[in-house]
Amino acid sequence: MRPVPAASFAIIDGGTAVSAPPPLEGVAAHLGLPLAADGAIALALDEALPAEAYRLEITATGVTLAGGSPQGVFWGVQTLRQLGRELPGGVIEDHPRYAYRGAMLDLARHFFTPAQIKAHVDLLVQFKINHLHLHLTDDQGWRLEIPGWPRLTEVSGGPGTGVDGAGPGFLTLGDYADVVAYAADRFVTIVPEIDMPGHVNAVHVAYPELTADGRPVAPRTDAEVGYSSLVAGREETYTFVETVLKTVAGLTPGPYLHIGGDECLSTPPEDYRTFLERVLPIPGRFGKSVIGWHEIAGVDLPEDAVVQYWRIEATDDAVARAAADGRRVIVSPADRTYLDMKYDADTPLGLDWAGHLSVERAYDWDPAERLPGVGEDAILGVEAPLWSETLRSVDDLRYLTFPRLPAVAEVAWSPRDGRDWQSFRERLAAFGPRWTAGGISFHRSPEIDWH
Ligand code: ACM
Repeated sequence: MRPVPAASFAIIDGGTAVSAPPPLEGVAAHLGLPLAADGAIALALDEALPAEAYRLEITATGVTLAGGSPQGVFWGVQTLRQLGRELPGGVIEDHPRYAYRGAMLDLARHFFTPAQIKAHVDLLVQFKINHLHLHLTDDQGWRLEIPGWPRLTEVSGGPGTGVDGAGPGFLTLGDYADVVAYAADRFVTIVPEIDMPGHVNAVHVAYPELTADGRPVAPRTDAEVGYSSLVAGREETYTFVETVLKTVAGLTPGPYLHIGGDECLSTPPEDYRTFLERVLPIPGRFGKSVIGWHEIAGVDLPEDAVVQYWRIEATDDAVARAAADGRRVIVSPADRTYLDMKYDADTPLGLDWAGHLSVERAYDWDPAERLPGVGEDAILGVEAPLWSETLRSVDDLRYLTFPRLPAVAEVAWSPRDGRDWQSFRERLAAFGPRWTAGGISFHRSPEIDWH
């Protein structure tokens, strides 16, 4: 922001209106102010700007917010809302560092309802997150209706599913479409994940004919990983996978289908390769780019495949080779971005296998310096996953999300030389009263001098 005389500011009050051309009326609605042709806040498109960029000019007489697209204007609206009702005069010109700025929610270990997911979207967009990755399936539950395979949700989305049996539920086709549309209205792309070939106990419980020996399998509600696998050598496996991915692709307007691929500890390496060689091209046949966790980088990847890096170790030759071959990478190192890690030893929720994740650790790192061979050009973006083994409520979800999600979101949005921990912690402190007033639970991290 340019320095301006202190006396120059605009005030938003009950009488403030917004003017917007028709393509921006939907965006204007997110300001919660009336529309009027001579509104003091003027929204506009400026095609000279990149799509997600915006320029916000505040003077004593009003506000002009121009964006390269409705999405750019929407991000400017978020900045305007953060500034509060007394707007300091000046010009903000802003655009994102990365195209993909994500959060992930694990619905498999604990289900959240469409209303809860939508409320989460509303909180995420305040920090300019533009992708919500939904981890829809895992050993403990299957959370999306698939026509032709009703037992997936009747059995594996039903009572007693989730970790400790405490997180039942599933999205009907209509629920999923509703969440996708709500997110799209806020410029958030839903990235659905169907995890395979591991993490499939819920599939085997529902359809024992997909196991290696066709025998029934007991439901699992513990938090172990790595014990289940689809069978690479059976055609039935691919009939199942193809139907599921076709259904999900048909329901999803966004460009990505995530096929998991992580922690296949009980899949022999040969079978893992056989399976992925069959499955990695399937999203492409339905017009989607495949995303997989970094384990997929050991297999030949489609040209548009995206690798999601989650390791703690700061090297990975296979990911570096994939990047050198032109594959893009989403950077989600568990020790910097996993919101399910405890803040510190006293945090009542969360896990600690990747260490403790303070707000400063979530903030003070650089995606392009994390992995040798995976530089700025290879990085599609940054995502903060939230696994839900220890979550039992929306308050729990928010407690682990805030205030660390804003830290990762700024890593994804702002250039390295535009970021500063002291400045961030001061700006973050201002959210405390807002979250409190909004009934949003958050961790009162001692690193922040909360207002
Ligand atoms: C993962 O954390 N298993 C991707």
